Amino acid sequence: MARMPFEGGNPKGGLRLKRWLIGLLIFLLVSLLAINSFTIGQFRIIPFSSTANQVNDIETKSQESTTTPPAQSGYVVNNKGCHIPDLSPFEPLVMRYIDKAKPIVCEHGVHLPLVSSNNSAIFINSEARNHYYNESESIDCCWRNFWRSDHKDNEITISKDCHFFKEATFVNEEFIRVECQRKNESIYRDYFAFVPRKLYVEEHCRERLRTLRSNSVLPTPSPERLSVLVVGMDSVSRLNFHRSMPRTLRLLRDMGAVEMLGYNKVADNTYPNLVPVLSGLSQIEFEKLCWTSHKKPFDRCPLLWKNFKAKGYRTIFAEDACYMTIFNYLKPGFRKQPTDYYLRPYCVAAESEIGNTHKLNANLCLGTRLNFDCLLHYTRKVAEEFADDPYFGLFWQASLTHDYIEYPQLGDDSYHDFFEYLLQNDLLRNTMLVFMSDHGMRWGSFRQTYQGHLEDSLPFVFLLLPYWWRTRHAIAWNELKRNTRSLTTPFDLHETLRDILEPSRLAIQSLHLQGHTRKDPKAKIPRGISMFRPIPEHRTCTMAGIPEHWCMCHERHNISHDDPIVTKVVGYLITELNGMLALYPQCAQLHVFALIDAKVLSNNAVEKENEAKETKKAPWTDYTVIIETTPGNAVFEGSMRHRADNGSIGLVGPVSRLNAYGRQSACVDDFHMRLYCFCH
Ligand SMILES: *[C@@H]1O[C@H](CO)[C@@H](O)[C@H](O)[C@H]1NC(C)=O
Ligand SMILES: *[C@@H]1O[C@H](CO)[C@@H](O)[C@H](O)[C@H]1NC(C)=O
Ligand SMILES: *[C@@H]1O[C@H](CO)[C@@H](O)[C@H](O)[C@H]1NC(C)=O
Ligand SMILES: *[C@@H]1O[C@H](CO)[C@@H](O)[C@H](O)[C@H]1NC(C)=O
Ligand SMILES: *[C@@H]1O[C@H](CO)[C@@H](O)[C@H](O)[C@H]1NC(C)=O
Repeated sequence: MARMPFEGGNPKGGLRLKRWLIGLLIFLLVSLLAINSFTIGQFRIIPFSSTANQVNDIETKSQESTTTPPAQSGYVVNNKGCHIPDLSPFEPLVMRYIDKAKPIVCEHGVHLPLVSSNNSAIFINSEARNHYYNESESIDCCWRNFWRSDHKDNEITISKDCHFFKEATFVNEEFIRVECQRKNESIYRDYFAFVPRKLYVEEHCRERLRTLRSNSVLPTPSPERLSVLVVGMDSVSRLNFHRSMPRTLRLLRDMGAVEMLGYNKVADNTYPNLVPVLSGLSQIEFEKLCWTSHKKPFDRCPLLWKNFKAKGYRTIFAEDACYMTIFNYLKPGFRKQPTDYYLRPYCVAAESEIGNTHKLNANLCLGTRLNFDCLLHYTRKVAEEFADDPYFGLFWQASLTHDYIEYPQLGDDSYHDFFEYLLQNDLLRNTMLVFMSDHGMRWGSFRQTYQGHLEDSLPFVFLLLPYWWRTRHAIAWNELKRNTRSLTTPFDLHETLRDILEPSRLAIQSLHLQGHTRKDPKAKIPRGISMFRPIPEHRTCTMAGIPEHWCMCHERHNISHDDPIVTKVVGYLITELNGMLALYPQCAQLHVFALIDAKVLSNNAVEKENEAKETKKAPWTDYTVIIETTPGNAVFEGSMRHRADNGSIGLVGPVSRLNAYGRQSACVDDFHMRLYCFCH
């Protein structure tokens, strides 16, 4: 509520003063209310179980309950328009479907490769020699560069010249192939990608910057141009990320990354969930606009890197598993290469020649390296090369995580080390990091369960911004933090990135001037809303552009007051209340005088998709009841989670008191207890 400004319109002179006065009056009123409720504790809503813990602390009745964490709110999103339950990644019913991943053993071996690279050179690993030849023998190694064949996304051209080298050599090419021979026999082949500066790219960036400055689109002294590094992992739900990659998760939290808990996909698979991020359009809108025939390449489509390029950014697009990449899987890809740096030629060449350990859809290995590690290494090279120059980079990994729900476990160390490297070398000093997925696992037996269904629609997204930026844009940063518990989408992510592209959009005045912040509920609310701006409490899937089928918002529906489970949860609520009141002999024990309202929380999409299947059913159901108690006629609202399998019931979130209690509870000092106590 507090996030809605009193007005969002464009008042003219005379009106302005009036609104000012009204604003002032409302402010005074709110302050009075706040002071009032602070001093008497009226209308306060507090988590019930944390109260219970405090009580136990005081009375030292139970040592255990002080060590159990305070009850969660029960929902990751709990707004007027959307409730998304907060599920545990380690739910026993779920763990049944998820194995511990066995390490990948590349068919080409798992030893150190003969040749490695850094940002500017390749070198022979002497420790690896004995895997390839005997010390007494001599070998010849040379490298040649290759490049994307003109207008072809799936072909490369290799140079005829092979440059021989002994132990190490500097390389100033983008892509190279290394070949080693013993006598006349080829014993080794490898592929490397680098990030050399390209003169025409640098010249273009300089020229754009000059033009923008002279048009005073950019402030002259120190234009703030934040780079954007998008690191993607295909098919990893938020909960599977928590389950499988604890080291990476901990590091991201330590780095101050913000996690979008209510990020809901808007379509089935990768392409239609990334098209909105890159274009702000739905798949259908996008195809109507620029991809009218399925034979056409995507060259003319409005993809975000074009906007960044126009602002003088270097652009990079890199993927692994090139058979199923975003714009190439059953699609023609691009004619002209889409970005300044485009990894596809490397992917095509390396996977076809040294790709191995092919499982389901992807080559897990390139030679003796893991495919996804090669992509991460390339990402690191980009982050290093452009740490001080504006760039927009999208790095999308699918080889490891696309097909197996347990494989993200095998990426935990690599991703952790990658982010740690960025941190230790301060490579994000001028860069916004977006670490994200597109959806969860879309098939398999786990997907047949209720939680599996939820996870499919709820991928992980983390955003990390440099400290100086958080200070300079404190309002935007605070909105972002609040929006971690809003319903958000790929459309929103697009708007968020556009705010980065045009920092003027983040100026304080313009942040609140969008129609959607107005109190008028009929005001036009855009489909995509930047995560740096207030996202309305009453936003629903429909408003956010999420088709019902993928919508994981749960809704409260009326349920019969005579339902036997309703009777049970009402009994549970009153017992819990009385259990707590029992610690205060001056308070009366309460009885249910009336059941005012009973609601059950459910999700249409999950219920519709598979009514028949037993496994599909949620193992639990949330009920929200409003009861009036006696003596004292207090009105309480509480939510309870009922497990069908063993009949257990527990509170979710706070129990709130919905009516005033006046002097009824003057006999207790603890202001938490004043909510509940009726003095004898
Ligand atoms: C890269 O490797 C070469 C050859 O081993 C070495 O000379 C150079 O210093 C290395 N560069 C960096 C940045 O480590
Ligand atoms: C190295 O030499 C030994 C003995 O001469 C031979 O058995 C072995 O196969 C050789 N290894 C390689 C990689 O050629
Ligand atoms: C290597 O191959 C070339 C031609 O293919 C041949 O003339 C030469 O004798 C070979 N050398 C060895 C050591 O086998
Ligand atoms: C649900 O029940 C409440 C009273 O318990 C009633 O006011 C409301 O109209 C009902 N809503 C629907 C959709 O039936
Ligand atoms: C019911 O099952 C849940 C999860 O499996 C467990 O946490 C809870 O303790 C069980 N309750 C009872 C009463 O067995």
